[in-house]
Amino acid sequence: MTSTGLFLTFEGIDGSGKSSQARLLADHLRGMGHDVVLTREPGGSAGAEEIRRLVLEGDPDRWSAETEILLFTAARRDHLERTIEPALAAGKVVICDRFADSTRMYQGLSRGDLRGLVDQLHNLMIGREPDLTLLIDMDPQTGLNRAKGRQGTEERFEDFGLDLQLKMRAGFLALADEFSERFRVIDGNRDMDSVASDVTDIVKQALR
Ligand code: TYD
Repeated sequence: MTSTGLFLTFEGIDGSGKSSQARLLADHLRGMGHDVVLTREPGGSAGAEEIRRLVLEGDPDRWSAETEILLFTAARRDHLERTIEPALAAGKVVICDRFADSTRMYQGLSRGDLRGLVDQLHNLMIGREPDLTLLIDMDPQTGLNRAKGRQGTEERFEDFGLDLQLKMRAGFLALADEFSERFRVIDGNRDMDSVASDVTDIVKQALR
């Protein structure tokens, strides 16, 4: 399917504020008259939301690292087929809270070095990257405190604590270097409005 819309993703460690920024951006672009689909991963389609419950709720140790990669990729494939590609084909702006870069980081780095496997499966089953990725960079301890403050039934990843947050932050910054054409790094250690204003400037440029 050829894409004519714009595919934007937000990435960052837990508690980085990316979900709020994705929402603010969607509101802003809608206000400008754009047709926007705001979605998230894991999830974003009926089937993928079912898989979300499998990976983020219940006993975290019931999936092996490899099975977990398959589940996240299965969810992404369904989300891409049912939600993302149709919206892009219709010329819409798709804003997605997390995408394949999260799997490269969380599944690729947190339980051993599985990045090669994540990339192979991505090439085989997903085969597309966002047009633009906004990395909300955040101090790992601040992010952890925020994430813990709102913890509900989905407690899968925050449970790994500060070590994982530090590793994920460094990993995301390295990923931004690796894919420097599509990544923009935004300092998330500021008030929401300042961060949102940077996000809007970057996205307006991309829309031009
Ligand atoms: P999310 O709902 O974005 O949580 P938050 O808003 O707190 O950042 O993501 C839920 C968790 O899922 C998060 O800890 C990261 C994890 N995750 C992965 O491990 N791999 C993935 O591919 C994705 C998309 C998310």
